[in-house]
Amino acid sequence: MDFSEREYLRRSQRYGKDFSPEQSVFGFLVTFVICVANIEKKQYLCGMIDDKKILAAPVQGWTDHVWRVAHAQVFGPAEAYYAPFMRVEHGGIRPRDLRDILPDNNAGIHVVPQVLACRPDDMAQMLQAVADMDYTEVNINLGCPHPPVARKGFGAGMLARPEALENLAQTLSQQKSLKVSLKMRLGWDDPVQWRNVLPLFNQVAVDHVIMHYRLGTQQYRCETMNQYISDTLRDIPAPVILNGDIDSLAAIDALLNQYPQAAGVMVGRALVADPALLCPDKATVDNYRRFHDLLYDGYSRALTGGDHQLLDKMQALWQMMLPHADHRAHKAIRKANTLDRYHQAVSQLFEQL
Ligand SMILES: Cc1cc2nc3c(=O)[nH]c(=O)nc-3n(C[C@H](O)[C@H](O)[C@H](O)COP(=O)(O)O)c2cc1C
Repeated sequence: MDFSEREYLRRSQRYGKDFSPEQSVFGFLVTFVICVANIEKKQYLCGMIDDKKILAAPVQGWTDHVWRVAHAQVFGPAEAYYAPFMRVEHGGIRPRDLRDILPDNNAGIHVVPQVLACRPDDMAQMLQAVADMDYTEVNINLGCPHPPVARKGFGAGMLARPEALENLAQTLSQQKSLKVSLKMRLGWDDPVQWRNVLPLFNQVAVDHVIMHYRLGTQQYRCETMNQYISDTLRDIPAPVILNGDIDSLAAIDALLNQYPQAAGVMVGRALVADPALLCPDKATVDNYRRFHDLLYDGYSRALTGGDHQLLDKMQALWQMMLPHADHRAHKAIRKANTLDRYHQAVSQLFEQL
């Protein structure tokens, strides 16, 4: 229980029990004001704890603009939503990546576009596109572990290639309009490789680094290697945000208490699983239902491939969403072969939540 909750309880007990009727009215008003302040504090908690940032991670396939806007509307906003990476294919930026970060599709939320590239030309093309949309910051992906991507020297693969990092530093140093942050792993196949990035800080004013404490080759297996947190906090010459397997407010609190030098945390899969993770006071069935309905409406407008595409998309979301909800309803959602059956199963799940 934090201070204001304790204070709220103490005062409500006091004003409720010991005071005369006029004083009780006064007590009620005081309690009401404290209660409102408390709620505001919890909303504030959704994006920050004291001066520490709580950021929403990019999760390709889940946290696109439809998810981000719905999340911000019902459970947020988070301090910032990092968009899944955009990349260049066949010489051009994938149109759906551009659509995802269009300011009109992200109205009212703090979005940080992310780029994934190993060729300087591709990187420069994407930085320009981000700046042209009037963004003021960009995040560089040095963490994607997907082997076909990493083998070509993209994402986490770049951490094992000092020469590629040198090219990246040069490209980043040539642009002045965007604030740059990095999202990286400890290494590709060796937990000393994060040090290969350090020379880049001599050329580029990196705003912050988000560190996922695993290797690329580990993908998402095994525990995060938190034994390296202290080294990275000490030796990376920029604020460091901790990332990897952070799955509750209590875990955030514990981590930030243990590492007060950290600038904050980033939460990915756990936030997709429970969109109310950062604001438990909003974890009501009505809010989950509203969130679902916003996703459904958003995708029915954004997708043009008819009922099947919409059904596929919604069923894919449920692979991660609300995993502790009723097992049978969950299964029925994933097995539904028409939108009618889908809606029946969703209603059943929310009735039992
Ligand atoms: C399906 C999936 C897609 C992801 N897509 C991205 C991405 O586009 N860009 C990125 O930097 N990280 C991506 N990540 C990594 C997450 O942002 C995060 O760093 C990682 O999942 C660890 O944090 P978590 O345990 O809180 O999820 C992805 C992770 C998953 C599981």
